[in-house]
Amino acid sequence: MAAKKHKIRLGVMFGGKSGEHEVSLASAAAVIGGLDPEEYEVIAIGITKSGTIASASEVRTMLPATLLQRVSPWVGEEGGNTPDLKSSLLGHDGRGDRRPDIIFPVLHGPFGEDGTIQGLLEIAGIPYVGCGVLASAVGMDKDFMKRLFLHAGLPVVPYFVESSRGLKQRLAQIRSAAESRFGYPVFSKPANLGSSVGVFKIHDAGEFDQAVLASARFDRKVVVEKGIDARELECAVLGNEEPEASVVGEIIPACEFYDYTAKYRNPDSRAQIPADIAPETAREIRDLSLRAFRAIEGSGLARVDFFLDRNTGTVWLNEINTMPGFTSISMYPKLWAACGAPFADLIRRLIDLGFERHRQREGFTAVRPDGRDGGGMAV
Ligand SMILES: Nc1ncnc2c1ncn2[C@@H]1O[C@H](COP(=O)(O)OP(=O)(O)O)[C@@H](O)[C@H]1O
Ligand SMILES: [Mg+2]
Repeated sequence: MAAKKHKIRLGVMFGGKSGEHEVSLASAAAVIGGLDPEEYEVIAIGITKSGTIASASEVRTMLPATLLQRVSPWVGEEGGNTPDLKSSLLGHDGRGDRRPDIIFPVLHGPFGEDGTIQGLLEIAGIPYVGCGVLASAVGMDKDFMKRLFLHAGLPVVPYFVESSRGLKQRLAQIRSAAESRFGYPVFSKPANLGSSVGVFKIHDAGEFDQAVLASARFDRKVVVEKGIDARELECAVLGNEEPEASVVGEIIPACEFYDYTAKYRNPDSRAQIPADIAPETAREIRDLSLRAFRAIEGSGLARVDFFLDRNTGTVWLNEINTMPGFTSISMYPKLWAACGAPFADLIRRLIDLGFERHRQREGFTAVRPDGRDGGGMAV
């Protein structure tokens, strides 16, 4: 009989302070449900909406009842006395013996997908799934994301960025700049957010001021962008230094554009996999996806989103998401399933990639300030 294998102690982190708290819960439930209990001991690291670590009883309200016997919560029933995430992960509260081997931060949006949690995990020295600090931060900031994409020669929809403060002061000037550069419709969106929160389609001059000011309520910077009459295509990327691109899928939103309601509330929004597009368009999108992933120095996974202009056939790169939705009906796992990688295999691969990246980063030799070789040889 084969010896019993050591289980990987996997911390699944979910919830969080962002507006995408509920989406994260659904993604985490799918991830936990897709794990083989023989292979993993799952530690549920719930984060409440106020950013504290969820107590065991709070975790019970965050995950489906059917999954609860498959996880152990990171903290006990402390009630109002839960530790903060930082000291808990750094092992300052006596939980060091239950430290996860690796963490899957299934968190979307600010304080999760934006490099902050990744930075904390780096400091704690815990391997984790997905993009590192830089790629996560850039992937969340549409301003810097676009700068890197442009630098890499990728097709970015014509846009400009304005500080929310500047916007309020120079509204009329900004309106006429958008009109003369793009015409209508125009889109306005907060630079750092996601889930279509604060994204507005502006049909004419009469709607401009109110929409951009509303976007400005969510962030320090607003992106004002030419509206494209587009089909929305998405491609999944998986890997570290030699990433692979999946087949291309199409999102068919139930509303005028893929706003928050269409994304999460309207069951009529659907995905078409593979997208019904010309083979050369699919090839172009897969190639652009890998280039976008490399442009931000991605690792692990990302979903890359495109617009295909209905009138001209031009492919535009819209954005990269470093922690895409991971529910069983989300595009990312579905795209890989269509490539022959079922959910459980995909998660195993992501965990392997997380370990691989951690090992690789740990392996670099630190340079000694006195210039001697830091290779550890006695000289
Ligand atoms: N320039 C644009 N042209 C056409 N539709 C757009 C444009 N920008 C955004 N949209 C629509 O708004 C949705 C959300 O915008 P997006 O830039 O993807 O922000 P988020 O990070 O919130 O997903 C897109 O999926 C698309 O439906
Ligand atoms: Mg989007």
